Amino acid sequence: MKGIILAGGKGTRLYPMTKAISKQLLPIYDKPLIYYPLSILLLAGIKEILIISTPEDTPLYERLLGDGKRIGVSFSYKVQDKPRGLADAFILGEEFIGDDNVCLVLGDNVFFGQDMTRVLRKAMERKDGATIFGYPVKDARAFGVVEFDKDHNVLSIEEKPQKPKSNYAVPGLYFYDNKVVEIAKNVEPSSRGEIEITAVNNAYLTTGELKVELLGRGMAWLDTGTPDGMLKAAEFVEAVQDRQGFYVSCIEEIAWRRGFITTAQLRALGEELDSTDYGKYLLALAEEK
Ligand code: G1P
Repeated sequence: MKGIILAGGKGTRLYPMTKAISKQLLPIYDKPLIYYPLSILLLAGIKEILIISTPEDTPLYERLLGDGKRIGVSFSYKVQDKPRGLADAFILGEEFIGDDNVCLVLGDNVFFGQDMTRVLRKAMERKDGATIFGYPVKDARAFGVVEFDKDHNVLSIEEKPQKPKSNYAVPGLYFYDNKVVEIAKNVEPSSRGEIEITAVNNAYLTTGELKVELLGRGMAWLDTGTPDGMLKAAEFVEAVQDRQGFYVSCIEEIAWRRGFITTAQLRALGEELDSTDYGKYLLALAEEK
């Protein structure tokens, strides 16, 4: 299974914060936003990851994340010259995906919850078709919306409907089999001129290969699309970290717990940052029995 993080876009809703820098590089409390979706791929055990961004921002992601060897994984990069829609990730990523299945996560989606590992494992185990997720929200109009029956068979999926058929929004995390590349190539642009991920999901729905997994009330899926959303997400992360002492979406910790790096490697990463709480956290983990 390969992983793709889409970190493009102009982030116009966050101007002037995003005038000179990509949204997914802005901090949510103590780490860049992209760490949060990246940690989801790592939790899923995905080690080959493609990061797609704009011509201006791709070098910044390379500077932040490098080739991934430091945390025992492989990062590659692809420039998207224009935002053409989420499904473009599979066209740009065709060579990278090769014959594998692929998980796409949007670079601005923050997930948190104990159940995440189980949910990810379930989606990973499914070798054919597509898996999306459903998350209850008060107002689903700003999202993809999934309608399903009592056995969780998908009945419909609509992009930003005026009258949502359910209150289940579709978060920016998607698992696909290899057919997604051909499907994406055949998607017609929507009225906003983009090849929509919802059109890809509809193609899987038509062939009866679209599954939805529900993220329950113990899970957090946070919106970072506005300054207010970013602040609330930051406060959430701070509250959890301060209370429990466990970091949210610490990529070095996940890499270590998943066995991608040794304790000695973790300690070396901590030593580089030892003047920060983040570095001290890594060092403390390395001392754990
Ligand atoms: C995109 C998708 C939408 C999904 C959302 C999740 O919307 O098109 O279906 O619910 O991401 O973050 P966008 O935020 O790009 O408008």
